[in-house]
Amino acid sequence: MRLLTGSARLAGVIGWPVAHSRSPRLHGTWLARYNIDGAYVPLPVAPADFPAVVRALVQAGFAGANVTIPHKEAAFALCDVVDPSAARAGAVNTLVFKDGKITGLNTDGAGFIANLRAHGVNPAAGPALILGAGGAARAIGAALQDEGASVTICNRTSERAAALGQVLSGAKTLEWAQREAALADYALLVNTTSLGMTKQPPLEMDLSTAPKHLVVADIVYVPLQTALLMQAQSHGLQIVGGLGMLLHQAVPGFAAWFGVTPEVDDELFRIAAGDLL
Ligand code: ATR
Repeated sequence: MRLLTGSARLAGVIGWPVAHSRSPRLHGTWLARYNIDGAYVPLPVAPADFPAVVRALVQAGFAGANVTIPHKEAAFALCDVVDPSAARAGAVNTLVFKDGKITGLNTDGAGFIANLRAHGVNPAAGPALILGAGGAARAIGAALQDEGASVTICNRTSERAAALGQVLSGAKTLEWAQREAALADYALLVNTTSLGMTKQPPLEMDLSTAPKHLVVADIVYVPLQTALLMQAQSHGLQIVGGLGMLLHQAVPGFAAWFGVTPEVDDELFRIAAGDLL
């Protein structure tokens, strides 16, 4: 067993609730693998307490933290410095504390891109159709644009699609009812909505007319294989599941806090998936 010393590096994940988070086991696996004198803990923090807790973590010598629902926008507002990925996303999922200053990153978009690449998919292979217009759609849309892909936002509430289309300059928008008919124009389909998640309604999307080259990605990872991905597979389309994005988005934070750039591999996938397999 690896015991902490008095100079152990500390990080964690701040959420409300946070009990469902897979990040502690993910970072814990890396800490053990690289034999690092450090710990990564779940930090359940109510929204009203968030700013005070972050400042206290800085004072207590934490190296930083991940930030999850519902704190990503509050984290953005709290940072002394935000990097370009966070500025583009308008939200922060990774905090790095150094010399009393709070720096914010958003690694969701880069995690999505890294997961595509790990599946052999070129993010700039062609236009991308993004379903949803929330925070995840914004981070992923910005990252795809930065890779050079043309992006279309398609959302049930068209006003939200239009608003995101304004933020992501150059992005197109598409009516929700057109999402199936338009598939022939795209190389990548990404579900960023909560549809298809366990206990949520399914995403209604008939892929039978999809072009053979369409890659279908889902950011939902509970279940690991959503109905959308199963349908895509049944039509012979390449699929990219959501858990890999979670693993890849964790890499920059771990590297900043603990000084080692960790590997994402099958063992990590199995440990993070746990009961989902
Ligand atoms: P996040 O920031 O995590 O992406 P969010 O802001 O709550 O989460 O966004 C959830 C997305 O799922 C939204 O795009 C939402 O569409 P609306 O903007 O129309 O609400 C989408 N969504 C949720 N339930 C849906 C449903 N039943 N049908 C279609 N889209 C749905």
